[in-house]
Amino acid sequence: MPAIKMEDNVYWIGANVHTEDLFEGIWPIPNGVALNSYIVKGDKIAIVELVREWGGAAMCLLENLNSLSISLKDIDYIILNHLEPDHTGFTYLFRTLSPKAQIVTTEKGASLINGFYGIDDHISIVKTGDELDLGQNKHFQFIEIPNVHWPETMVSYETNTKILFSGDAFGAFGVHLGEIFDDETPDVHKPYWEEEMLRYYANIIATFSSNVLKAIDSLANINIKMIAPSHGLIWRKHPEVVIRKYLRYANYNKDFAEPEICVVWGSMYGNTEVMLNSILRGIASEGVPVTVHRVPNEDVSFILADAYKSAGLIIGAPTYEYGMFPPMKYFLEILKKKLIWYKKVLYFGSFSWSGGAQREFDALSKNMHWDIMDPIVFKGHPSNEQLKKGEAQGAELAMQVKNIPSKIKDENY
Ligand code: FEO
Repeated sequence: MPAIKMEDNVYWIGANVHTEDLFEGIWPIPNGVALNSYIVKGDKIAIVELVREWGGAAMCLLENLNSLSISLKDIDYIILNHLEPDHTGFTYLFRTLSPKAQIVTTEKGASLINGFYGIDDHISIVKTGDELDLGQNKHFQFIEIPNVHWPETMVSYETNTKILFSGDAFGAFGVHLGEIFDDETPDVHKPYWEEEMLRYYANIIATFSSNVLKAIDSLANINIKMIAPSHGLIWRKHPEVVIRKYLRYANYNKDFAEPEICVVWGSMYGNTEVMLNSILRGIASEGVPVTVHRVPNEDVSFILADAYKSAGLIIGAPTYEYGMFPPMKYFLEILKKKLIWYKKVLYFGSFSWSGGAQREFDALSKNMHWDIMDPIVFKGHPSNEQLKKGEAQGAELAMQVKNIPSKIKDENY
């Protein structure tokens, strides 16, 4: 896509990256990811966010600059809100091509620029409240929003157009599907964006939810007309919608998740699976929405998104060599790392010559603020009595989550 005008003298010049690489080396992105980059022109020219040399993104950025007849040597400022290499991997080369450009970042950002790229000159360090005037009514204010996503993160607010360049905050996985603005998005694309936004949040941002809430608070008094994140849609008409979505996501690990159940299971020889079916029958009897994922067959990235949004979580996995079935252990470790707290939880699973899975489940679920039901464990195959208990426990958990009101509702866009 060529450069796209957002406002007078403000342009999107980013790239859609289609790749089989994993994001952060962990998370699959079958729908790719957009690396949004922007140009703001006054008397001086600023580029906001760079890209990584990834899937043609660097070349795309250069072509988009060319389409605006902006020469690299004319760039005065490179504003880097966040130093993760998806937005900065191109920095060293870009600086070589734009030697007069001053990098604008926070103090911690400057340290990261040096650490990643060995650059320690032409850097302007800014903090909350600092400003940068480009002339011709283009004027930035900077606000630090640490840990959304890394500690050096800030946002850049252009006071004339009232555009907030928000870095990772309010971002999403997924390439642009033709539209780059919320108001261009056809209804048929909205489920795509909801899914990619939630999965991005659960995979990348969830650990920092308390910082997201602080950031939203610190932006409350700013008159924001447009939110331009470094990934995903640009919210031109309804910036309040994406703020609300992020508020909703940030509250999922504060006991305000959706009244749904996410069931994650693994089975070696089908015995744990037999119990799964009884539990699902119990859930179905209460009519509660349920998502069901098998490990290791499905990637943890997708499971994490459903687990994060759901008030109820059911973990079914057998004992494997005196401990938890390894793919489930990995999933539970990810839940712990991502602070997936405040769930109503049930564990079930088969063991053969010894237990062990439950012991590891108990250890991994410590300090997670989970409300855990009586577990269902059985030697080998579950008995009819145990299957009845499974059905009853499934129904009980469903009843508990059914009555949890979702506290924050989406608005239409
Ligand atoms: Fe898109 Fe945390 O970088």
